[in-house]
Amino acid sequence: MRILVVNGPNLRFVGQRQPDIYGSQGLDLVPEMVSQVLGEAAKNIALSFFQSNFEGALIDRLEEAWKEKTDGLVLNAGAYTHTSLALADCLAWIQVPCVEVHISNVFARDESIRHQSFMAHHCVGVIAGFGLMSYALAVQALWHHLS
Ligand code: DQA
Repeated sequence: MRILVVNGPNLRFVGQRQPDIYGSQGLDLVPEMVSQVLGEAAKNIALSFFQSNFEGALIDRLEEAWKEKTDGLVLNAGAYTHTSLALADCLAWIQVPCVEVHISNVFARDESIRHQSFMAHHCVGVIAGFGLMSYALAVQALWHHLS
C-alpha cells in the first residue's frame, strides 16, 4: 500500500517552530512512529513525504498522487486547512482516500478560524491533537480503511 504524507505551510521546521504548541521533535520521526503503531503491518506500507509552503505546489503533488494511483493520503494542510477552497476542490475530484491530520488540537485552540476545515468534508476522517503521533494514527486509520 502506498501512502503519501503531505504537509503544508510552516510545517517544515516542526520541532523548532513554537515547540509549546507543536512539540520539539521533527517530522523525520514519523516513519519510526508508524512502525511502532503498525508493527508487522508497517512492512506493507510504502510511505512517501512531501512538504510545500505553496498552495499550488500542494495541489500539483495531490494531482500527481492521483496520477500515480497512490492508495491513500495523510494531509496536514497547515493554515490552508482553514482557508483553501482550491485544495478542497482538488481533494473533491481526485477522490484519493485522505485523512486530515493536525499536530495540535485545532478545536481546542483559541482562534475560532482554526475550528473550521475546508478539507474535512472530503476526508475519511480527522485526527488532531496527538502531536506527531497524529500522523502515525492517521496511517493506521488509512490502513484499516483500505484493507
Ligand atoms: C496545524 C494547525 C493549523 O491551524 C496551523 O495553521 C498549522 C499547523 C497543526 O498541525 O496543528 O500550521 O495544522
